[in-house]
Amino acid sequence: MSEDDNSGQTEDERRIEDLPGVGEVTAEKLRESGYDNILTIAVASPKDLSEVTGIAEGAAARIIAAARKMADVGKFETGDEILKKRESVLKLTTGSKSLDDLLGGGLETQAITEFFGEFGSGKTQIMHQLAVNCTGPEDQGGFDADALIIDTENTFRPERIKQMALHRGFDPDETLKRIHVARAYNSHHQILLAERAMDEAKKYNIKLLIVDSLTSHFRSEYVGRGSLAERQQLLNKHMHDLLRFSTVYNAVIAVTNQVSARPDIFFGDPTSPIGGNIVGHAATFRIYLRKSKAGKRIARLIDSPSLPEGEAVVQVTEDGVTDI
Ligand code: GTP
Ligand code: MG
Repeated sequence: MSEDDNSGQTEDERRIEDLPGVGEVTAEKLRESGYDNILTIAVASPKDLSEVTGIAEGAAARIIAAARKMADVGKFETGDEILKKRESVLKLTTGSKSLDDLLGGGLETQAITEFFGEFGSGKTQIMHQLAVNCTGPEDQGGFDADALIIDTENTFRPERIKQMALHRGFDPDETLKRIHVARAYNSHHQILLAERAMDEAKKYNIKLLIVDSLTSHFRSEYVGRGSLAERQQLLNKHMHDLLRFSTVYNAVIAVTNQVSARPDIFFGDPTSPIGGNIVGHAATFRIYLRKSKAGKRIARLIDSPSLPEGEAVVQVTEDGVTDI
């Protein structure tokens, strides 16, 4: 828990100690529970803060109010300002025309796209394919840029990259050189790697950051209701790091997520993605993948801000992820 005590402090000069009512002891307690920057405190509830710090709810509410002011949450922008920002958004091809169409042209930069589904539904295959496509030329839906992969399940396979690269007409060895992979051994390591991605992006032209899987470590390390709040805080911080990367570098963020078969915790739907509201709100696009016959995969777009819900059918073959 102490490895990331200073996370975010170098990027953001406003420290949580600057908040009125937050002394050294309270700051330490907040950090230990994942409230390590102004923004996570700004969007917290007084009850949660009170629980982790032991301060009264009224005092917690005052801290939150101060954080809100400082973090500038709730700021309004005019439509034309937002449109201008959106004009710099780029789109990365998935390798499938029908899946690209479902997403309005591909995976967007400045956003997090989440693929969730049960084991073997093709999430990792799609991540490999996106990494390959990212290195490809712009006239083929790529960014001619490098990709980063945070691999939490040790499922990265360079052999698959080579096969997929060959199919798209790219040099397999050159493609491998443009895909940077780090294995994450636990959730804290994963969070640290996402922070380090910023450093990597200063050295290379990184346009895609993959986390495969986003939730597996969190799920196995934080079991039981008692640790749920802490898990959600850490996930929240992680998602914000990823979002920040996407806007700073105009990059695509693609993450994978499993489905939960715990209807008691996850609102009655046996196919709910893990991570609840924290992941749901941070991911701009959520795609539910399921297996169908003969290597086919059905992708369903869920909960998109501007696109109609719909489905695309793709196939996973030796060549990668393609249209039928
Ligand atoms: P988990 O990580 O376990 O949750 O699953 P996942 O959704 O990441 O599944 P993944 O992407 O690893 O999909 C594995 C499936 O892809 C296999 O069961 C195969 O059906 C298919 N697949 C992987 N490689 C190949 C290949 O070289 N050829 C063909 N035809 N299919 C492949
Ligand atoms: Mg996988």
